[in-house]
Amino acid sequence: MYNLRNRSFVKEIDFEPRELRYLLQLSEALKIAKYAGTETRRLDGKEIALIFEKSSTRTRSAFEVAAFDQGAHVTYLDPSGSQLGHKESVADTARVLGRMYDAIEFRGNRQSDVEELAQHAGVPVYNGLTDEWHPTQMLADFLTMHEASGKPYDALAYAFVGDCRFNMGRSLLVMGALMGTDVRLAGPTELQPPDDVVTLAQEIASRTDARIAITDDAGEAVSGVDFVHTDVWVSMGESKDVWAERVRLLTPYQVSSALLEKSGNPKVKFMHCLPAFHDPNTTVGREIMEHTGMSQGLRSHR
Ligand code: NVA
Repeated sequence: MYNLRNRSFVKEIDFEPRELRYLLQLSEALKIAKYAGTETRRLDGKEIALIFEKSSTRTRSAFEVAAFDQGAHVTYLDPSGSQLGHKESVADTARVLGRMYDAIEFRGNRQSDVEELAQHAGVPVYNGLTDEWHPTQMLADFLTMHEASGKPYDALAYAFVGDCRFNMGRSLLVMGALMGTDVRLAGPTELQPPDDVVTLAQEIASRTDARIAITDDAGEAVSGVDFVHTDVWVSMGESKDVWAERVRLLTPYQVSSALLEKSGNPKVKFMHCLPAFHDPNTTVGREIMEHTGMSQGLRSHR
């Protein structure tokens, strides 16, 4: 057991591997207790601020439901509801909210903003996604991979195929390194993770015995894995102008049945953090189809 009281979680490396394992065990226990109807409220009377500079469906729901289940109250500040960075500095916001709230969640563009909040708030700050990292998604994805495969964390093998330089690709690389897994990233040269992230993952892997591979060959990356992950091709905050180029770069990295077969594992499973624009059933999906003429491709990008 570890005491994680008053600790912020703004990126995966804020916790040691043994602390991440403990957090995952705790998540598993809480999930079981919720389904069994035996959850104990440990956050009665606590107040949590949820700042969303970028919109959210799942992360907001997960934070709110978890907080309510544990007896805490939340205040949701939507993308138009906080003055953060526009009229009020991040440090000022942190100092004021830190006096009212017991913890703060922040989703936004810049990693430096969530780190500045954590530095000045005086209460724990949780990163609900930035352009650089998505640590709470990592906890959810690792628990899911563990549950769905029945394997211990350090026996998992997975590939991320797609835009490796954004939050999901980077986080899956570093979290895999921390947890001692077999992690492979595949994407075009233009969308590979930055050198500092690769170096960080390699340094961690030398301590944890993780196996790391970064390649531009999607078929090679998925060979023998339990899970194939991808992400949207254009992330929140990116301009619509990049769609045509991104489709050109990422079409060879589409996750299709043919690619999953290349894993050679009949039990391979596909994971996507969502949203996934794979059909014309959403406004954005239709816009992308019209903009790129990519009807079939979108269907197979599941
Ligand atoms: N890369 C995506 C992840 C969404 C959960 C984005 O930042 O929009």
